[in-house]
Amino acid sequence: MTEQGERAEQLPIDGFAHVELYVGNAKQASYVYENAYGFTPVAYAGPETGVRDRASYVMEQGDLRIILTAPMTTEGTIAEHVARHTDGVRDVAFVTNDVQGTFQEAVDRAQEHEEVFQGEELVDDGFVVRKPETIEDEHGTVDIATLATFGDTVHTLIDTSNYGGPFLPGYESIDTDRDVQGVGFQTLDHTVGNVGEGDMARWARFYESVFGFRRFLDFDEDDISTKYSALRSVVMANDDLSVKIPINEPAEGLKKSQIQEYLDFYPGPGVQHLAITTENILTTIEEMRTRGADFLDAPEAYYENLPDRIPIEGIDEALEDLEELGILVDEEEEGYLLQLFTNPIQDRPTLFFEIIQRKGAQGFGKGNFKALFKSFEQEQEKRGNL
Ligand code: FE2
Repeated sequence: MTEQGERAEQLPIDGFAHVELYVGNAKQASYVYENAYGFTPVAYAGPETGVRDRASYVMEQGDLRIILTAPMTTEGTIAEHVARHTDGVRDVAFVTNDVQGTFQEAVDRAQEHEEVFQGEELVDDGFVVRKPETIEDEHGTVDIATLATFGDTVHTLIDTSNYGGPFLPGYESIDTDRDVQGVGFQTLDHTVGNVGEGDMARWARFYESVFGFRRFLDFDEDDISTKYSALRSVVMANDDLSVKIPINEPAEGLKKSQIQEYLDFYPGPGVQHLAITTENILTTIEEMRTRGADFLDAPEAYYENLPDRIPIEGIDEALEDLEELGILVDEEEEGYLLQLFTNPIQDRPTLFFEIIQRKGAQGFGKGNFKALFKSFEQEQEKRGNL
């Protein structure tokens, strides 16, 4: 268990708003998100809409909104982010009905808890990425502010309740005559951050003391390890669990932790995966596989061993269908969940997606972690990073 800190009152954070990735080529990335993952492009900002420094595509599916942004310049935050990380998550934005108040309280609390930011100088040097402002156009107003978190990642606070446009001022609707078919993605279930060894507790305290999130679950290396490589994880969440942010750190093992591989290649702390819910994981994975998405293979004996791990009679899906599609199962007291992880979605072994269908279970598939570690290690081995 990680050390409990003092949890502050929760700030009014009511869910994930969107996730913005900084990428080298947003036009091409949007093509992959549309064709492999089934997102509809709904809005665009760039030189044609009066935005000079970037090109951004807003991709929607279900309640999910992913923004793909590429730099139009060689200098500045976007270009530097891409130069350092290649494609990666810049912003995990939160919905709030009070941007100004949430921002101010977060900054005040951060100043009171400077020990939380030890070594990062987060408060003095860059905690405030964007001061609160109200931006507007003919569609209405948007309140927006941005705060820093681990690595080069940020949390934008956003209130679009008085806005009727396609996304934000500066964006114009994309009217595509293509008939984009989704793959069944519904919502963002959780976003996971990887931080350096020994830093997990500090970042958990950051979410606890600044945003007032709670520790929903934690795991240590006994839960999530093989003989060789390990990780620790703590899940920070808001009260209604509409925001869940597991934070991982590498743990000591005989071989390199998958978290350390991420940290070496990203490089530094950052978002490891985006977990996306579906109402029917069988059709979602089948469709994604047909479109060319590739997934982490389950270890050989996984389906053979499954009945020993889980009472199969409680599972609605046929075991052979799950095995054919490579879908993983985990069980908890309240129910079970089905999940599957993609391989990294860019050249570096950094960001990937998790597809998850919850059937009562609120956890993260702890029972699969051990089984999966062997698969992660096999992939690391192929890359020469074990
Ligand atoms: Fe996950």
